Formats: sequence, structure tokens, C-alpha cells
Amino acid sequence: SETDKGTYPFYMLKEIDEQPIVIRHLIEKYLDSEGGVHVGQAILDDIKAADRLYIVAAGTSYHAGLVGQRLFEQWAGIPTEVHLSSEFAYEQPLLSEKPFFIFLTQSGETADSREVLQNVNEQGFKSLTLTNVEKSTLWREATYALPLLAGPEIAVASTKAYVAQVGLQAILAYAVADREALGFNLEQDLSKIAVGIQGIVDDKETLQRVANEMLVESRNAFFIGRGVDSTVSLEAALKLKEISYVQAEGFAAGELKHGTLALIEEGTPVVALITQSKTAGLVRGNLAETQARGSRAYTIVTENLAKEGDDYILPNVNELLSPLLSVVPTQLLAYYTSLGRGLDVDRPRNLAKSVTVQ
Ligand code: G6P
Repeated sequence: SETDKGTYPFYMLKEIDEQPIVIRHLIEKYLDSEGGVHVGQAILDDIKAADRLYIVAAGTSYHAGLVGQRLFEQWAGIPTEVHLSSEFAYEQPLLSEKPFFIFLTQSGETADSREVLQNVNEQGFKSLTLTNVEKSTLWREATYALPLLAGPEIAVASTKAYVAQVGLQAILAYAVADREALGFNLEQDLSKIAVGIQGIVDDKETLQRVANEMLVESRNAFFIGRGVDSTVSLEAALKLKEISYVQAEGFAAGELKHGTLALIEEGTPVVALITQSKTAGLVRGNLAETQARGSRAYTIVTENLAKEGDDYILPNVNELLSPLLSVVPTQLLAYYTSLGRGLDVDRPRNLAKSVTVQ
């Protein structure tokens, strides 16, 4: 059944492997080959009528929202803010005149996110929940809801729900954008991505080896990138922290020199994500500065930006969709680090799958 581990040692690995199927489910439900998008018209009308989008989420869903912000702004030209629900709930930012809220939540039950939705409802604003659990609390209480179609996610560390949230936000941004001006067919791009993810999950040995060599015995690790890659860095660090207990930090590569560089010692792992042509050279420069202090550098790079000596090469895709690919090797690095440390990958200490307290 869907909630059976089958031959997998841990749910997390099964869920990482399901990511190509998750993308295909999104394509089947929401897109067609002629460039059409099948999302309720009322939702699209309300997004278009908004002068600003407010994405509200927690944890990994928040990191998916940081990608969504770029998609809505750069594809659809709609100003977008992303907020942590636990912060927004008690310190509501000043809102625009016509806000529209998007709640991202795998479980649909996160208490902090629900608190915000209740506040928003009281103020009479419209909202859309993107969730993996139909009929969940945030599904029921929002104006609109759309399913992530990722299938049950059981491992505490979220993987396929992130990919589904990024994918569905891309579909929504594409739906409200001027598609002629964008000049690409999202259905084709996402199909390529499903194939690309399959290639990554079919090559697990490489990442297991890297995890064993670089991370299993390390006290700490850093992930860096610029633009959308900085947001994937945050997610990569979170994944490593939550299941392997290696202290990890992800951040915008340009910030290294403002503090974190002081932590680089001989052998400190630094993983650089390089998928954005505008900033690839700058990130390489930042990485080189860590190497000059003895870091153990590892690059995850899109093929068209790759150079001699790069480590992990991703297939070329639409640059803003690259998180759907680049996140996967970081999930596998976290998985194999946890495994290598002999930990319970699916049930990390102190954490819950769904946090229903504030
Ligand atoms: C918990 C889970 C995370 C998840 C977060 C938000 O901390 O362990 O994996 O990202 O809650 O959950 P949600 O269901 O709202 O996406």
C-alpha cells in the first residue's frame, strides 16, 4: 500500500525516490501539453486581483515558500512576501490594500499556521492552502485549497512535500503570468525535471560515498548559494541538522565574509549550490575563500555552468525551477549522513511530523 515501506530501510528514502512521480502527478492534474493550466478560475482571479501575496508557512514548507516568492515575483510580477507562521501570528506585518494569502503546509495541521489563518479569516481576507492532506484543518478553513498530490509523507524530515510545494507554486505563478512573454512550456520543463530527478535518485552510491567521506564524522557543515540557491541552502542545512544532528548552516554566499568565514577550519565541509548564471562566478569566488582557509569544498552545479573539477552535475533546466533538482542531492547527503551515524532516519530525536502546539 501507499503507506508501506516495502523493501526500503526507511520511509525517507522511499519518499525521496517518489519525487519523479510527484512531479508527474502535478503535471497530470494541473497542466496540459498545449500550455494550459487547470486550476480553479476563482483562485487565479483572486491571485491576479491581489496587489501582494503573503506566503505563510513553517519549517521545510517555509523554505518552499522562499522559492515560491521568486516564482511569483519573477514570472508573474506580483510582489510577494514569505513569513514564518510562528512570527506572523504574533507580530502581523503591515498589509497591502489587497493581500492574498497562500498557506503552505504538508500536514495541514501546524498550529502556528492555523493561528495565522484564523487571524486572516477574521480580517476578511481570502486565502489558499496548498497541502498534502485533503480535509485537514488548514484545507477546510481557507477560502480555497489545492492538493499537493505527494502521497502520504511519513518520515519526519520532509522531502517530497517540498518538491510538490515548489512544483505547485510554479504552476500557479505560470498560470497567472503572461505565458507568451515567459516563452516556455511549463509542462515540458517539469517533465524534464521528473527525468532529471530520476537520474539523481538512480545514482545514490555517489552521494553515499560523499556523505561518508565528508559529513558523517564532521561536527558542522555549511551550504551556500545566491538567489534561489541561497534558499535551497537553508533547506539542505535543515535536512542535515534534523536527521544527522550535524550542526549545519545555510545562507547567502555573499554573507560568508561577514562572519561565518571565521568558522572555517581545516576540513570544514562547505557545499556550494551553483545553478544561477548571474551569480555562478561570485559563488565560486566565495567558495574559493573558504578553500583558502582549508575547507572541504563540494559543488552541486548545473551542467551549463559546470567547470573542470566540479563535483555533482545537474541537468540543465529553467533556472528558477532548479531547486526541484538541486535539493535532491542534498536530501540524499542528509539521509546517508544519518544512516552512516547509525541514527533512526525517520524518527529524529525531539521532533514531530506535525507540530500542533504553538
Ligand atoms: C514539522 C516537520 C517538518 C515540517 C514542519 C511544517 O517541524 O517535522 O518536516 O516542515 O513541521 O509542517 P507542515 O505540515 O505545516 O508543512
